[in-house]
Amino acid sequence: MENKGKFYITTPIYYPSSNLHVGHTYCTVMADAMARFRRMQGYDVRFLTGTDEHGQKIQTLAEEKGVTPQAYVDEVVAGIKELWKTMEISYDDFIRTTEERHETRVQQIWNRMYEKGDIYKGKYEGMYCTPCESFWTESQLVDGKCPDCGRPVVKAEEEAYFFKLSNYAQKILDLYEEHPEFLQPETRRNEMKAFINQGLEDLCVSRCTFDWGVPVPNDPKHVMYVWVDALSNYVTALGGPEDTELMGKYWPADYHLVGKEIVRFHSIIWPAMLMSADLPLPKHVLGHGWLLLGGEKVSKSKAAKGLDVVDPVILIERYGIDALKYFLLREYTFGQDGNFNNEVMLKRMNYDLANDLGNLVSRTVSMIEKYCGGVIPAAAIEDDFDKDLKAIAVGAREKVEAEMDKFAFNMALEEIWVVVRRANKYIDEKAPWVLAKDESKKAELDTVMKNLAEAIRVVSVLIYPFMHTTSDEIRKQIGLEGTETVWDDALVFDLMEGVKVCKGNAIFPRIDIDKELEILSGIAEEIAKKKAAASADPVEKAILESKPLELKDEIVYDDFDKMDFRVGTILKAEKHPKADKLLVFQVKMGTEVRQVISGVADSYKPEEMVGKKVVVVANLKPRQLRGMESYGMLLFADGEDGKSIVVTTDAPDGSVVC
Ligand code: MSP
Repeated sequence: MENKGKFYITTPIYYPSSNLHVGHTYCTVMADAMARFRRMQGYDVRFLTGTDEHGQKIQTLAEEKGVTPQAYVDEVVAGIKELWKTMEISYDDFIRTTEERHETRVQQIWNRMYEKGDIYKGKYEGMYCTPCESFWTESQLVDGKCPDCGRPVVKAEEEAYFFKLSNYAQKILDLYEEHPEFLQPETRRNEMKAFINQGLEDLCVSRCTFDWGVPVPNDPKHVMYVWVDALSNYVTALGGPEDTELMGKYWPADYHLVGKEIVRFHSIIWPAMLMSADLPLPKHVLGHGWLLLGGEKVSKSKAAKGLDVVDPVILIERYGIDALKYFLLREYTFGQDGNFNNEVMLKRMNYDLANDLGNLVSRTVSMIEKYCGGVIPAAAIEDDFDKDLKAIAVGAREKVEAEMDKFAFNMALEEIWVVVRRANKYIDEKAPWVLAKDESKKAELDTVMKNLAEAIRVVSVLIYPFMHTTSDEIRKQIGLEGTETVWDDALVFDLMEGVKVCKGNAIFPRIDIDKELEILSGIAEEIAKKKAAASADPVEKAILESKPLELKDEIVYDDFDKMDFRVGTILKAEKHPKADKLLVFQVKMGTEVRQVISGVADSYKPEEMVGKKVVVVANLKPRQLRGMESYGMLLFADGEDGKSIVVTTDAPDGSVVC
């Protein structure tokens, strides 16, 4: 196969603070699919992932657990490696920032920056977000909290080394200008430009209040800022910064795939560090969107909240690796956020995998067995349906490639499913069961069987980068077990004559969605309970134990905005002359006094209500209640034993409640 050149792709190196969730899996699955895809196309691929093991957060977690930081990360990293093994992630190297090969090389990078005159000693005074390991100035905070994660920050003041990031502001803006492809999607580039234009301050690149980090060369009471340490992994894993064989072959990276929240580090700090260290810049930084759960980012702390299972290990156990991978790649649009929930996931698995793909394969193999003795026959004629199926099948590869060039995994899969759905439709159009009844239609029937086998084979090639196990299983069933899956074979339609099929189990069993959702919510509840029991933080406990309320149908803001609530004072209250349950109030709301009637005589004596500050629905259409007019409604809450409790407020009379 022609060698297309090298292709170096990386994922972020994950924090081994605890087990990974489906959000981390998302990024790694995309990188894996891209790596496998480029390998099939003939690229010399290098795929790097790893773990980012230093920093204050890890040190604190280890202390809480009463183990050394190294022992702490060793355990979590073993779990992460196990997860990638289960998911058959095809990385070529896994770098840990606690490995010696990394530590010595990151010091070499530091020395290069130092010798350039870009690192100097000073004093740090500012705010620090420990979970994000990020420094912020007061003006960057949002409501006094970390602008990235919204959590509280702490004041940090210490002697520290600084990197002259400010010197690189213009160079980075020039980079975006000259190479807009460096940072995508465009929205992220605009955000970064705006960030730089606010003014780039020098970056504090060392800490001395804890010691779980790479020592600063010649000043070991300082450890390097964890992002300088972490970003360097992409180079140190190749043996860099020195000129090693791997560096020569693979650097600069073709793609750094990262979540949108760390684009800033990869597109400002990282290129500045590389410029300072006289190393070439990566060709592309791609920021992907987040998986959201109930509108919030799926995260480690919220991972167990709610009724959805986000633990990839459980999802894989129940539905298989390929179903999860397919869902992640097909459901979301690269660069945008997307909602994750178990129902959407199960529907995708059922409709696309069990119905469309699974049925196509099982129906075809069964028919070839039934009508052709299990051996794929020769094709004899070509009518418009045959020609259309063939054109769509052999034309798909080009479309898949075009979408993959844009990292549009969902659209690449959609192009493959165009073939799958066309083939299913072809079965309906040709109705082989009718052809089989007429001996004179044997040639046509044979053609249908052969064309279906070819279409399925093309699909098996095209899905290989995304779901290689399924591809292998399909190829086994259409009699191609043990043959090499070759990318160019997706361009031809004449390889299947004489092949003996081999019927197997359904490649994706149908899921009973309602039943499965119930099981999953039970599992999610169990996980949340366990986490709540283990948590010392009462707020976290409450969040973990929280259960969704049963509410009326959702309304939009405009519905709410139509309502006019006002604060009023009850001047007078009396019994309704004709109804035992009703009380009649005279309510003053600013300039206006009006009559409002409520059915609360069982809960309040009239005199108890006088003087209370209440909330009135003031623009409600007036209503007759047993012969008296009511001009609005007071708000009450349902109390115990069916009693009502009036909603009161300290706000001034007449004020608008909104
Ligand atoms: N250690 C740093 C990265 C250093 S790279 C030099 C870090 N680690 S992390 O464990 O927090 O992982 C962050 C990455 O995980 C994100 O950038 C993203 O790729 C992935 N995701 C984590 N949660 C995610 C979602 N809810 N949705 C999508 N991706 C998510 O930051």
